Order: sequence, then structure tokens, then C-alpha cells
Amino acid sequence: MKFASFMLFAAATTTLAVSCNNNSENKNTAVKPGVTKTDWGKVDGKDVYLYTLVNDKGDTVTITNYGGTVTSFVTPDKNGKYSSVIVGFDSLAPYLQKPPYFGALIGRYGNRIGNAQFSLDGTGYKLAANDGKNTLHGGLKGFDKVVWDASIPNDTVPSLTLKYVSKDLEEGFPGNLNVTVQYTLTNDIGLKIEYSAETDKATPVNLTNHSYFNLSGDVTNTILGETLMIDADNYTPVDTTLIPTGEIKSVKGTPFDFTTPKEIGKDFANVQGGYDHNFVLNKKDNLLDKVAEVSDSISGRVMDVYTTQPGLQFYTGNFLDGKFINRGGTPLAQHSALCLETQHFPDSPNKPNFPSSILKPGEKYHEVTVYKVSVK
Ligand code: BGC
Repeated sequence: MKFASFMLFAAATTTLAVSCNNNSENKNTAVKPGVTKTDWGKVDGKDVYLYTLVNDKGDTVTITNYGGTVTSFVTPDKNGKYSSVIVGFDSLAPYLQKPPYFGALIGRYGNRIGNAQFSLDGTGYKLAANDGKNTLHGGLKGFDKVVWDASIPNDTVPSLTLKYVSKDLEEGFPGNLNVTVQYTLTNDIGLKIEYSAETDKATPVNLTNHSYFNLSGDVTNTILGETLMIDADNYTPVDTTLIPTGEIKSVKGTPFDFTTPKEIGKDFANVQGGYDHNFVLNKKDNLLDKVAEVSDSISGRVMDVYTTQPGLQFYTGNFLDGKFINRGGTPLAQHSALCLETQHFPDSPNKPNFPSSILKPGEKYHEVTVYKVSVK
């Protein structure tokens, strides 16, 4: 195992492996602020690394440049016990078994595009269909399955910069797209994700991160007992293949009303298949605003979600079936974790009434999302 240390950051040692086990008492006292890098294997002939970002308080985030995947986010609970609020694995091999996007960066287009096609400026584009007849999360080999170029910026806070060039017509999308994603772990336990992109042909772009959270840090607790607020008066109903119908519907009087904090399980029985819907955020600008809050009474953890994006996919892990085993050995069963994917609305390229997701040459795509964890 090879370690490198960087700039002003102190080197870590192999013995300070972050506390990722559900029952770990590790207080992360051994971890020193900074960024460290370890060898994690090879994919497509390219080197894969695991980067550990440690803030001043000893909270940690681990990220691999395979898929730009966040593999853990370790924070204290109300008793000062550290565990990961993000599910994942401690080695590369299980990530190559195609788990459902655990922690990964998603692109070129997050969520679904109906019938795997769209037309733009009079030209029709056919995409790879990888979810029935639809395209999901970028196609057969989306940004979650590629090796990103990683570098550690000379920053005062622990950060990681990832770059990927998606070639013209990759997975059927037009234009060479230059993508940069910067992850930062702030001292107030915010996992900040900043997405930038530029293209040489008009193309749909919808970048997100697909972390699965369980704030209790123990995936034997389902997330149905956690409490959620989403600042959205409307959502986008879907058809049986989870493609939005195009309607923007009020949440009022429906199970989709999370405008005031509500236990996720409260109206769950009335949502066929579980929550897997895009919420139309009330924010009217592209400033970084708070849009959601999850809290867990077992651990006392609270997570605030801030974003510049117009939509939020709330997904209750409905398709998790125990096939993948979380670190610590617990199978990831249905509803053992939830996703809050900040995004443009699904199928926007085919829905003229949705906010446009088209990036044109000369324009700069720039979106920011922060997942900030605290304890009550
Ligand atoms: C989608 C789900 C899908 C999950 C994993 C979510 O973003 O909305 O339908 O099952 O990702 O692929």
C-alpha cells in the first residue's frame, strides 16, 4: 500500500483507517487534517486511488476516482461515536460488481430519459437504453463507471478535484464535455460538491451524486423512521416506468408533502413502490439554498441539504434487495438507506415545460450541493 502526503497536510498512516464500522468506538483521534491517497487497484488500465479527506475535527470523507465515488462520510453521533452516514465498501472489487450507483458521480444525464432518445436543434439522438426502454444515469457506462483524473488542490480545506472528458457521442450524447467535480470537506462537517462543465456542442447535462445515506450509521435501522423536510410545494408525478408525465403537481394533501418535517414512514404505505420522485424545489434562483433536512432520533444526527439545482430526487432505496453487503457485513436491504439527489428534472430533454438542462458551447455549467451533518 502506497501513501503520499500533500502540501501543508500531515501524512496519515495505515493505522488510522477511518472509523467506518457501524459499531466502532473510534473517535478518529488518530486522524490528522489533510488529504491522503492510497492505491486501490486498476480499472481500464488506469490507476484507481482512495483519497481520505480529514477536516480539523477529525471527520472524514473517503472518495475514489473510480466513478468519483464517495465511499464513506464518517461523523460523530450524539454520544461522540463515529460511523459512516453513507453506505459503501472498503475495497474496489464490490464497486466493479455494478452496485446501484452507491456514492457515485452521475452523468452525463442523472436519472431517466424516456425511450432513450431526445431531439435537439432538429437532430434526433438515440441513447443506450439501460433501464427497460429508458436511459438511466447516463447509460451503460455512465460517469459512475469511468476512472476520473484526480488532483489535490492547494487549498486550506481538504479537497479533491476530479476531471473527466466525455467524448462526442459517448453513450449517444452530442459534444465533447469537459467535466470537473470538486469535493471539499468543510470544518462544519459539510460535504461540498461543486460541478463544472463545458461543451463544444449543445447537449443535455445533469450531474449529481448518488450517495445513499443512513444517518443512524447502522443500516439495520431502516430509513423509514427518519424525519424529512423538503422545501417543495410541487413534485413531478411519473408513469409506470418512472418517467415524469410532464405534470407539475401540488404536494398538498398527498404523501409527497414534506414541507414540514414528517417521518418518512408516515404515508409510505400510500406511495406505490416507495418514494422515487423528483421534487420541484421552491427556490427561484440558482443560489446555494437549503432545500431539505433529514434527522434521525437514534443517533441524533441531522443532515441539511443545500443546492443550486432546481430539483431533488428523493429515493427510499426501493430496489435494494440485500445483494450488496455494506462495510461491517450488513446486507443493504430495501429501505436501509435513502438518496437525496440534487438535479434537473428527469426527462427534461423531452419535456419543454421543465427547466432546460441544455448546455451550449460558450456557456459554463456550474452547480453546487452541500450535505451538512450536525448533531442535535
Ligand atoms: C432512481 C431510482 C433508481 C436508483 C438506482 C435513483 O436515482 O430514481 O429509480 O433505482 O437511482 O439506480
